[in-house]
Amino acid sequence: MLKIKSLCLPSAVIQSPMSGWTDLPFRRVAREKGLSFAFVEMILADAVVAGSERTLEMMRSSPADRPLGVQMVGYTPESLSRAAGMMEAAGFDLIDLNLGCPVKKVTCKGGGSAILKEPDKARAIFSGMVSSVNKVPITVKMRLGYDDPSGQEALRIAGIAEECGISALTVHGRTRRQGYSGMADYEAIGRIKKAVRIPVIGNGDVTDGRSAQRLMEVSGCDGIMIGRGGVGYPWIYREAAAVLEGRPAPAAPGFQEIKSTLLRHLELQLFHTPVQAHFLMRRIACSYFKRMAGAGEFRDRINDAGSIEEIRDIIELFEPAVCRTP
Ligand SMILES: Cc1cc2nc3c(=O)[nH]c(=O)nc-3n(C[C@H](O)[C@H](O)[C@H](O)COP(=O)(O)O)c2cc1C
Repeated sequence: MLKIKSLCLPSAVIQSPMSGWTDLPFRRVAREKGLSFAFVEMILADAVVAGSERTLEMMRSSPADRPLGVQMVGYTPESLSRAAGMMEAAGFDLIDLNLGCPVKKVTCKGGGSAILKEPDKARAIFSGMVSSVNKVPITVKMRLGYDDPSGQEALRIAGIAEECGISALTVHGRTRRQGYSGMADYEAIGRIKKAVRIPVIGNGDVTDGRSAQRLMEVSGCDGIMIGRGGVGYPWIYREAAAVLEGRPAPAAPGFQEIKSTLLRHLELQLFHTPVQAHFLMRRIACSYFKRMAGAGEFRDRINDAGSIEEIRDIIELFEPAVCRTP
């Protein structure tokens, strides 16, 4: 269980917001396999305030897609506060602020991980967002720092966040400069956990039950957030949750279950995003078999497929290579 202000989540394992991946079909499949809390894709506060159609599209959900968080990236306390009020009115269960995005077009305007270097601006943003909502929790997801891997930048921001009434923090154990290189520093996440009283969620490099347990044990965190480990493997959340709760890990899915889940993902993609489904299903189909040796030909055929119907046929006819003894 993970409690964030008044929000009680049944599992301490939650899904990470990931631009380009965590759309409604992704979340629906993950929930069908045991995920309890999900995020829509990151949205820009200025676009919310401007009423952008594309942003409304990204916020689309369904009754089964609950509880649900929204993550915002933004540049000024004013637009982030206004957008937070609008997101609460839109019915989200949690509003997260992005202090981790390393992308230049965001950091050069002073958003995402660039805010880690500006404590005064961070304070103004946190206070503004907290005071513009009634009861929904406002949380912050950050990297360990902008350039400094010691974690001092994140520690300073964590203290400010707690003072301003932020309800929980997620820490990805790498700096902006590190990108995705090396391994996430779980000990540094643990130092932040020790420094604050609000819940801290650890993030980085969880790909199975064992790595989930290691993150939890080393950092002492209250919960864990899984990003890339859930791409093409929606079973990761239940596997991690079982191990953290001291239950035996459920059996890994067999080939037929992976195939039927992928076909389910395809139908949901076609239903919710009919125009983009063909383009999106290429990389989604490849991601489901990324762990499987000998699936190279399958991935090549998927990438060459000219239509969504062709992709469906390739998946339906796909069988694992049979090992023949001479
Ligand atoms: C394709 C991609 C898109 C991402 N988009 C976001 C995002 O919109 N917001 C965010 O806070 N983090 C984003 N991240 C970072 C992840 O949420 C996560 O913090 C990071 O990948 C480390 O966790 P992991 O090892 O479990 O993936 C993204 C990562 C990837 C690979």
